[in-house]
Amino acid sequence: MPALMAAPLLRAGRQSQRMLLQAIERDPAAFRVLTGDRPTGPLHIGHYFGTLQNRVRLQQAGVELMVLIADYQAVTDRSAPAELPGTVLGLVADYLAVGIDPSRAVVFTHSQVPALNQLLLPFLSLVSISELRRNPTVKSEMAAGGPAAMTGLMFTYPVHQAADILFCHANLVPVGKDQLPHLEVARVIARRFNERYSPDLPYFAEPAALLSAAPLLLGLDGRKMGKSGGNAIPLRATADETARLVAAAKTDSERVISYEPGRRPEVANLLLIAALCLDEPPQTVADKVGGGGAAALKALVTDAVNTAFGPVRARRAELAADPGHLSAVLAAGNEKAGQVAESTLRDVLRLMHHNY
Ligand code: TRP
Repeated sequence: MPALMAAPLLRAGRQSQRMLLQAIERDPAAFRVLTGDRPTGPLHIGHYFGTLQNRVRLQQAGVELMVLIADYQAVTDRSAPAELPGTVLGLVADYLAVGIDPSRAVVFTHSQVPALNQLLLPFLSLVSISELRRNPTVKSEMAAGGPAAMTGLMFTYPVHQAADILFCHANLVPVGKDQLPHLEVARVIARRFNERYSPDLPYFAEPAALLSAAPLLLGLDGRKMGKSGGNAIPLRATADETARLVAAAKTDSERVISYEPGRRPEVANLLLIAALCLDEPPQTVADKVGGGGAAALKALVTDAVNTAFGPVRARRAELAADPGHLSAVLAAGNEKAGQVAESTLRDVLRLMHHNY
């Protein structure tokens, strides 16, 4: 099982990560976690090992969990808006199926929590255009589409993400490495807000990052595993769909299966998937397949995934059959997040002397 890893600062050493984990263990109630996913498609096993498993562990440990379905972040890259409600409820089903417990965790969406979004305005006043231009995600989006294709929303998205984190005073954010620069924006905004409006008693705590120790899974085509790329094994896939997806996965023509991530990335990735499902080192899985070749490897991976995710999938099918329940869970989460956001917004406006 991959352990939790924490990175309180971008350059944090192992030592401070260990200290953060010890602090969580000592006093889980002192931590509030905010995590989020963009509603761009069903969650897959990469999400499970990369972040969902950690979220559930934190919840079981007694940490307060806020889970954001970042619908305003998906505005720019959504091609079929009419599919959004189904995608959002699908995410709720994925969360509950893996063990996020709506009686303890708060699951909510951007668009239904107006006070969260209103924090964007004062926060925008705390960062400069050149800082945003230096943000790696903004930079790569700009490079991909050209500056003319960069919308105002995309350009300010790290600031919106800071509002996601700070509205609920989250002090722990489990993220992938690619999200660390965004977290740094949230830390800078918290610091600057405190300096400007609350110098004697800091109002916002600077959130810490929590990184999963699980190695990143590749897609079945050897590229980055993506929600919308068609190269992932969705959590909700049936056993047959899983078999078909794995059968189509890229491998190589070498007969003897070995775990060599550098030289044989696609084979290594399949071994890693099985290893995570079986809770064994990938080398052990490779030894089991030995001279069986790609066909034996794929049969083993299919079995491992179907066995590991069987119970999650059964639960998910039950949940999906009751969309009314999923909507009610989301409505309750939106209501709770709304209360938290309104209270923060009230404090922020008071500290800014906008209280009349
Ligand atoms: N940007 C994140 C992603 O693409 C989703 C997200 C939105 C998020 N707001 C967040 C993650 C706040 C952590 C904290 O997956």
